[in-house]
Amino acid sequence: MSLLSLLLVLLPPPSLFYSLKNCTADFYDRTVIDCGHSHLTTVPSHIPKSATLINLGPNQIETIKQTDLRGFTQLQTLKLGNNHISLIEDGAFMDLSSLTHLNLAVNHLSSLTDNMFKGLSNLVTLDLSINKFRNISKFAFEPLKSLQEVYMSFVPVDMTNIISHTPSIRILSVETESFEADVCPFPLLNLTMLQLGSFPLKKFSVHGNVLPQLEYLILSTNHHEVEWDVPNKAVLKSLKRLELSFKKMTTESYLSILQSVDSVEFLELTTFGNPFDQSVMDAACSIPSLQKLKITYRNITMINDTYLRACSNLTELGFYSNALSELSECSLRMMTRLKRLNIESNGLTRIPTTIRNLSTITHLSFLSNHITKLQCSDFLNLPLLEELNLNYNKISKFKNCVLKDLKNIRVLYLKHNAFSTLDESFRSSFPYLVDFSAEDNYLRLVHKGTFNKMLYLTDLNIKSKSATNVENGTFEGLLNLRHLSFSQTYQSGGIISGLEHLESLVVFITSNKETVVSNPVTLNLSSLQKLTVEVDRNVCVDQALYNLHNMTNLQVFSLETICCDIPTHTFLETPHLQKLKITNCVDFSPDLDLFKTISELKFLDLSHNKIQSLSFFSRANLTKLEQLILRNNELQIINETIFEALPSLKYLDLSENPFACDCSNAEFIIWAIKNKQVQVVNGFQYRCSSPLSLDGQFLLDFKVQLCWEETSFLCFLFSSGLVLFTLLSSFIYHFMRWQLAYGFYLLQAFLYDSKKKRQGKPSLYDAFVSYNCHDEDWVYRELVPELEERQGWKLCLHHRDFQPGKPIIENITDAIYRSRKTLCVISRHYLQSEWCSREIQMASFRLFDEKRDVLILLFLEELSSNQLSPFYRIRKLVRSHTYLSWNQARGNKALFWEKLQKALENGNNPAGNPNRHAANV
Ligand SMILES: *[C@@H]1O[C@H](CO)[C@@H](O)[C@H](O)[C@H]1NC(C)=O
Ligand SMILES: *[C@@H]1O[C@H](CO)[C@@H](O)[C@H](O)[C@H]1NC(C)=O
Ligand SMILES: *[C@@H]1O[C@H](CO)[C@@H](O)[C@H](O)[C@H]1NC(C)=O
Ligand SMILES: *[C@@H]1O[C@H](CO)[C@@H](O)[C@H](O)[C@H]1NC(C)=O
Ligand SMILES: *[C@@H]1O[C@H](CO)[C@@H](O)[C@H](O)[C@H]1NC(C)=O
Ligand SMILES: *[C@@H]1O[C@H](CO)[C@@H](O)[C@H](O)[C@H]1NC(C)=O
Ligand SMILES: *[C@@H]1O[C@H](CO)[C@@H](O)[C@H](O)[C@H]1NC(C)=O
Repeated sequence: MSLLSLLLVLLPPPSLFYSLKNCTADFYDRTVIDCGHSHLTTVPSHIPKSATLINLGPNQIETIKQTDLRGFTQLQTLKLGNNHISLIEDGAFMDLSSLTHLNLAVNHLSSLTDNMFKGLSNLVTLDLSINKFRNISKFAFEPLKSLQEVYMSFVPVDMTNIISHTPSIRILSVETESFEADVCPFPLLNLTMLQLGSFPLKKFSVHGNVLPQLEYLILSTNHHEVEWDVPNKAVLKSLKRLELSFKKMTTESYLSILQSVDSVEFLELTTFGNPFDQSVMDAACSIPSLQKLKITYRNITMINDTYLRACSNLTELGFYSNALSELSECSLRMMTRLKRLNIESNGLTRIPTTIRNLSTITHLSFLSNHITKLQCSDFLNLPLLEELNLNYNKISKFKNCVLKDLKNIRVLYLKHNAFSTLDESFRSSFPYLVDFSAEDNYLRLVHKGTFNKMLYLTDLNIKSKSATNVENGTFEGLLNLRHLSFSQTYQSGGIISGLEHLESLVVFITSNKETVVSNPVTLNLSSLQKLTVEVDRNVCVDQALYNLHNMTNLQVFSLETICCDIPTHTFLETPHLQKLKITNCVDFSPDLDLFKTISELKFLDLSHNKIQSLSFFSRANLTKLEQLILRNNELQIINETIFEALPSLKYLDLSENPFACDCSNAEFIIWAIKNKQVQVVNGFQYRCSSPLSLDGQFLLDFKVQLCWEETSFLCFLFSSGLVLFTLLSSFIYHFMRWQLAYGFYLLQAFLYDSKKKRQGKPSLYDAFVSYNCHDEDWVYRELVPELEERQGWKLCLHHRDFQPGKPIIENITDAIYRSRKTLCVISRHYLQSEWCSREIQMASFRLFDEKRDVLILLFLEELSSNQLSPFYRIRKLVRSHTYLSWNQARGNKALFWEKLQKALENGNNPAGNPNRHAANV
């Protein structure tokens, strides 16, 4: 662990975390902060003050304190909806001078005080829906000078407190028992939309021209009757859209409303009680400007011939969420202008015959009924029909004749029906189709040629719920196709090519039985931009599922499969891939080179793959990667240095991994908190899975300092060691410097020895005589005359033969190596002299290295083994060698010299037995 990290741990935390606690900064706009779904009980304190949007819901916040929102001067949108807020302290919004949108819906607020909204002078939209207001102060809305939209549905309030301070109000949605526009101190000149919600509204009153701009009015009430007090039709002259949603309402009430709104173009009638009776219908359709009528009510099963008699001028008619099972033969006959008819979420079992001959109709929807069959005559004479929506029905067969006269049909939706095949009759039925969907059926077989007449098709979706066999060549010739989705039972191999304009392709590989795929499908679609491959759980992909050829425009590739053995060459021909998603693999262990060729990648999602290590990134050439999603894998330890290979990374999501909370993650933890480039998304919510004692704790709460405390103990040991060493060395130097010098010379000697050995010069002397100056007298008196003059040896004596000026150690080693033998004249003084043992050392190097007997020990006086004991090496030599003793030889000098002569002669005979010429003690 580096020193830098240690420093980082010790530094105080920066005030702005790059990875936010309990919040996420939006990838595209870092000032957009999302703290929703985080179980917060208070407003987090770490949100950067530069935020322009903060979402804090849903959470469990109870109080907004004065200090919670200090300093957010840039904030434009604040979402506090879906919390438990019951108290907002006065002045809590004081600093939010830029705030334009405030959402406090679905909370427990019971009162609005005078100073609560102080500071919100630029607020445009305020949502207070679904709270528990009991007390709204008179001046609560006074600071809201710019307010244009107020939503307070499901909150019965006295509106005058609101509108008397907000003259520019545009949209008002409130609960009130009575709306009396004329009570207001000024006309609501800018009011365009008014919603009066579902608690008992009893009175609606407008007399003067006080709502000149009102376009959209929604009235809903539980009450049976509304006192509708609009005496003059001109009062609501701008009203274009009216929604009436009543539980139970008298016919009189309906009539009084419908007869005073002449300008309405779009009317929606919703009820939960009895059906609107004939007179209500007549009144509704008699509104002169009415074009669209939408009816939602539960209790109507049948529409008779007269019911819509007044509605002949409608262009749009819709029946929703009814029990409608029948429309009588002539119920729609009078509709001479109808363009759109929607009969959705009803109980039709067949196409009502009344729609035949609706010569103006362009859009028909029977979405979500119980239609099982289509007859040849069902769509007779609908010459302008462009779009037919039969999604969510129970149709299983389609006869050739059904749509044969529909020359203009472009769009046909058959999603979620009961088709098992698009059979023969299907072919050539709809030559002008542009958009066709038979998604979510149970197609087993799609014949080649099914679509081969549909040359204008741009969108085709036959993605099925079951294993489908799509014949080879099915999509041949669909040159205009842009979006294609289909399912396919895995066959061996295949080619999809020739679809020159295809931009997006979704393939769902299915199988009825467990299958192993080994022959890939080849895709050669040069304009394809988006490819999605989903693979059924039964199918295991052995190697390549797809060969992606010539995919020069591919930008998005997403693969969902259990077996993800993705070969290295997969992305060779997709150089512009920007988004890649590979998920749900059982075992994803990509080759190190897999990502090498897609250097433009910006987004990579590898969630749900059981990944255990990220080492494969080290070789990836992903220099543009900005977002990396690794949710729900098996990563325990993150080596953050891996991300150095991803220099553009800004967004990293590692949620739902089983992190190890120990020192192996310490560096990652520090990096996650302190790095200034990569936002570790939801990092503060990551949990530990190991060790067991920390199971469930937060990863980033792990005390990384502990890791360095161990290290600092080591540091302590090391530095104390250093101090001790220094002390010891000075101590040793003081008391043992000679031994040290000796060691130094020994080393030098050793080096010199090796050097000399290599040189291998011939001997210049017969013997080098090593002695102490105290014994010089004996050497010159006895030894030199005997050996040099009588026996004729050439001796090296240091006083006489050493070269002056040369270092003494070099002289000694020179002398030893240039002499055949080394003769040590040992006495008490000799042993004590400071460098004599160096000579013995040197000689013994030679002795052992060259395995030659170079050393001759000559004891000048008798020495007890006690006296020898400090001189370990000599003792060893004495033990292993025999030696000469002058003291013992006093009686017989001749024999002594003879023995010495033999010892000197022996020099050239390395194998010779030293005992032969040694005198024993
Ligand atoms: C963040 O959320 C965790 C629980 O997920 C909670 O314990 C913590 O107090 C929260 N932090 C803040 C600042 O609210
Ligand atoms: C109504 O809106 C317009 C601009 O949309 C504005 O200029 C005018 O002041 C507003 N009227 C009132 C009464 O606020
Ligand atoms: C719906 O109609 C049935 C009879 O058709 C009636 O019994 C029932 O009360 C009605 N429901 C409502 C809510 O009016
Ligand atoms: C048609 O149905 C409406 C509503 O169900 C009903 O009020 C009306 O009397 C019926 N008209 C005829 C002729 O049956
Ligand atoms: C339909 O509109 C025409 C004029 O566009 C009008 O004369 C006629 O009365 C309207 N019919 C109904 C039933 O309102
Ligand atoms: C699919 O059809 C093409 C020609 O349209 C042919 O070359 C290819 O071999 C066929 N593939 C299979 C698997 O039958
Ligand atoms: C890729 O396209 C080129 C021409 O656009 C074509 O010549 C080549 O055969 C194609 N490659 C493959 C593998 O089909």
